[in-house]
Amino acid sequence: MKDGWGRDINYMRISVTDRCNLRCIYCMPEEGIKKKQHEDILRYEDILKIVKCCAKLGINKIRLTGGEPLIVKDIDKLIYEISKIDGIEDIGITTNGILLKDMAKDLKKCGLKRVNISLDTLKEEKFKKITRKGNLKNVLEAIEECLRIGLSPVKINTVLIRGLNDDEIEDIMNLTIRYPLDVRFIELMPIGEGEKYYKDGFISSEEIIRNHKNLFPIGRKRGETAENYKLPDSIGKIGLISPLSCKFCDSCNRIRLTSAGTIKPCLHSEREYSIREYLNSEEMLLAAIKNSIINKPKEHYLEENEKSFSKKMMFQIGG
Ligand code: 5AD
Ligand code: SF4
Repeated sequence: MKDGWGRDINYMRISVTDRCNLRCIYCMPEEGIKKKQHEDILRYEDILKIVKCCAKLGINKIRLTGGEPLIVKDIDKLIYEISKIDGIEDIGITTNGILLKDMAKDLKKCGLKRVNISLDTLKEEKFKKITRKGNLKNVLEAIEECLRIGLSPVKINTVLIRGLNDDEIEDIMNLTIRYPLDVRFIELMPIGEGEKYYKDGFISSEEIIRNHKNLFPIGRKRGETAENYKLPDSIGKIGLISPLSCKFCDSCNRIRLTSAGTIKPCLHSEREYSIREYLNSEEMLLAAIKNSIINKPKEHYLEENEKSFSKKMMFQIGG
């Protein structure tokens, strides 16, 4: 369906948990987060009910995010059930990749099409420093496995921070020469823990373009957040995602469902619509979801006012 500004909304991101098996320094505090009570989190049956309603309203694309979606029990079954819903054409997942290698084949069988894997460095030591917990090897092997079994596209999400991993921009870009990967550099957002690194560490997409004259532009698809580029002779693509410096609000096609059962029509707005109290009536659930879509904000004003950011943390909304 169309939102109040005439944008066709066909994509929902579902944060299935706000917990994570890593503690990336720009995302989560070292001690982790307070665990939510079971009853405060949507159950699978609830998520399926909501997706069914959304499909009736024209949503055909779903992405599961977190926290880390792969730590959730029976995530493969959820993917399978979602893939069977009438009208759902595409399911993706955004993961840190730690558990992905051994799960990828099964997830694909269950209907998973695309994966976005976070990877901020190609150096083992630095990976430990950034994620505080993980092993780089697990992620690299997962990426290879996804390519091997034909998940497509396989995208890599890289958050750049000056002084931390900006010396690796070229090495990460060069992955697209050997592999059919979509490598996307995401500008650091001053959300939650990210605020600590923002002032000194922010690297704009514009700076990347300025310093890499061999990148040539190949445009942007509708609803896509990245401006796409290629290196000469590469088989993959390079995307630059600039939530602050370059807004894509005009073509935004998405809403978000949080694990607590609220719809967030805009990542950067405080506005949230609780829908869990309507789970017992399809009619009311449909009306509540419609209402959240109609009221999707026109745009965000982050570039004018950083404080206008949503107070929610990244691990609660899944990027
Ligand atoms: N700014 C930009 N990206 C972030 N992510 C987490 N926190 C931030 C932040 N403050 C990214 C993760 C992951 C994606 C879901 O969001 O690295 O790739
Ligand atoms: Fe976990 Fe992703 Fe946050 Fe890292 S960025 S702590 S992997 S949710």
